[in-house]
Amino acid sequence: MTSRFALAALAAAALASALAGGCADDGAPRAAAVEPARPAPAAACEGGAAPAAPPKAVGFAVGDRAPSFEWDGEDEAGRRARISLARYEEPCAARPRLLVVRVHGGAWCGTCRWHAEHTSDLFALPEGDRLRVLDVVVSDRDGSPARAEDLAAFRGLVDPGARARVAFAVDPAMELARVAPASGVPVPLYVFVDTRTLSLRGYLSNPNPDELADRVGAIVAELDRRPAPARREPALVDGLFHADEWDMIRGATGLGAPPPDPTNDVADSAAAAALGKALFFDAGLSPGGAVACATCHDPAKQLSDGAKVARGAGLGSRRTPRIALAAHARWQGWDGRADTLWSQALLPLEHPDEMGGSRLFVVRRVAERWAREHAAAFPGRPLPDVSRLPAEGKPGDAAFEALPPATKEAVTRAFVDVGKAIAAYERTFRVAENRFDRYARGDAGALTPLEKQGLLTFMHVGCMQCHWGPRLTDDAFHVTRMASGHPGAADRGRELGAAILGASELTRAGRFSDAPSPLLVRPGAPGAFKTPALRGVAGGGPFGHGGESDSLSSVTELYGRGGLPDGDPRTIGALEPWLLRFDEAAQWGMPPFLATLTAEPIVP
Ligand code: HEC
Ligand code: HEC
Repeated sequence: MTSRFALAALAAAALASALAGGCADDGAPRAAAVEPARPAPAAACEGGAAPAAPPKAVGFAVGDRAPSFEWDGEDEAGRRARISLARYEEPCAARPRLLVVRVHGGAWCGTCRWHAEHTSDLFALPEGDRLRVLDVVVSDRDGSPARAEDLAAFRGLVDPGARARVAFAVDPAMELARVAPASGVPVPLYVFVDTRTLSLRGYLSNPNPDELADRVGAIVAELDRRPAPARREPALVDGLFHADEWDMIRGATGLGAPPPDPTNDVADSAAAAALGKALFFDAGLSPGGAVACATCHDPAKQLSDGAKVARGAGLGSRRTPRIALAAHARWQGWDGRADTLWSQALLPLEHPDEMGGSRLFVVRRVAERWAREHAAAFPGRPLPDVSRLPAEGKPGDAAFEALPPATKEAVTRAFVDVGKAIAAYERTFRVAENRFDRYARGDAGALTPLEKQGLLTFMHVGCMQCHWGPRLTDDAFHVTRMASGHPGAADRGRELGAAILGASELTRAGRFSDAPSPLLVRPGAPGAFKTPALRGVAGGGPFGHGGESDSLSSVTELYGRGGLPDGDPRTIGALEPWLLRFDEAAQWGMPPFLATLTAEPIVP
């Protein structure tokens, strides 16, 4: 017991010293310190001079009058409106109010969601009736620049008790971030503005509820020219975690069955899963006879292959993901080139570097080898007669294009059913619980002090913005500047994936979907990749889309440096503003924590 606590204290000290110094360029603590406010300029009322003109929006600091921002948004009643900071100005108010602007990454952001869901707590503070709240949203749910039409979804995250008291705006440029240090600001970023003078009174980056309450209390007291109220004594769970952190820890466990997939009418059919299992392990689906899905997604290797990049019929340039949790994901592939599990399964079958086949070849193989299983899985959907058709053919091949349209359609439908059966099988994958789950359920001894410290650091440096929920992913696309698997060239990631998806007829929106729903694919950012689930990351590397990091500590070090530097040809795109740089001492403990995130596959 003693040694455990001694270790925890040591870890806490190391973390504190790593984060000390507040706003040094090499890292900032979870909440950036608030600079002392300059005295607010006296507003002139009753015939005096007009308030100071707002400065241009370049370079502003705490104490300045807020720049004259104006954004597209929704007012408190949910009506489309231009939202300017000037709309909050009340120079002659007897009791000045405090405008709380919360800059959120978007609905993908786990920490932002927590704050949105707890907006009522803000209004419940003793100063609650003195607050106005504006939520500024930077990107949409997938990480693309936000548009006004995305606000309805974000508004839905704010708890109903507070929703009618909050206005919303979109700011894809994240202009207010310039009030904080340039070395990354984990979101939500709280920016406090005095409504009497529109002067910036301070900011906090992803504060815990106690420091938020203290700061609001102190600033409102300052506006009233009275002493600040006493600081709160935070109640920490297990001596470490604030209420928001503990909520997020609990929210990162309890993974259930995958969500329903209405686009696949056999998604939960046992007969389809039985056919899918046979197909998953059948190397005969590849013309060379050597490559099955299971070659690269081997149940004995966490449903991956342990290799830097995949090798099938050819050599790929991306690392094979672990797929035990794929049925839970919104997007498939590092670049989200497929939007359903069944349409993903069709890609490797026809990809020259993976299985190297074609839909005609695959349908023929099913007819010759799996006819009985197919009939059981798809009663009333007989396979087309391919006996007199060419052996190989897929869209774009002369042999396939020469077929009558009805034949092409029938072959493609049978091919789609192959994908739907494989998806039904993948939906039966489950993973075993790990020590982190036991800890989250309240078994305080399930993690060591070092692992707990690593978990705390993981939260403090902002990892849970993107790695949250039971799989520890936000299912969105981000630029973190990791290395590609191409020698000396960058992988364009989501830019490519969005283009492929936009051109595909095999999507949730298309005619092969059993429940077509609108597909919203926006142009993707170059260098953005899907956030991988960290549940299972303990199963071993290599890590990243290019498989270039071979240990968890090399990944956390790379994060600490802000990814690969500008000019490195193996990556592309600007590092996202909410990725905080931190030094080696601050990342201490994170690799051991990540190593508790096992996800031993349970594969029927
Ligand atoms: C040659 C190795 C290889 C073979 C064979 C292969 N895969 Fe993959 N799989 C990969 C790679 C590499 C990726 C990542 C592709 C990308 O992002 O471009 C991937 C991605 C996936 C994904 C998406 C996972 C995620 O987290 O985004 C699923 C699901 C999947 N494969 C299932 C299958 C199925 C089903 C088959 C057989 C029909 C199959 N794979 C065959 C290597 C392979
Ligand atoms: C802005 C969103 C975001 C944040 C914040 C973030 N990650 Fe990631 N993470 C990603 C994305 C996207 C990838 C995949 C990047 C790639 O392969 O190019 C990734 C990949 C990883 C991987 C590799 C997993 C694998 O299977 O290859 C690890 C480990 C990881 N992150 C840990 C962390 C840690 C630790 C932190 C905090 C220091 C963190 N992440 C913060 C989005 C994020």
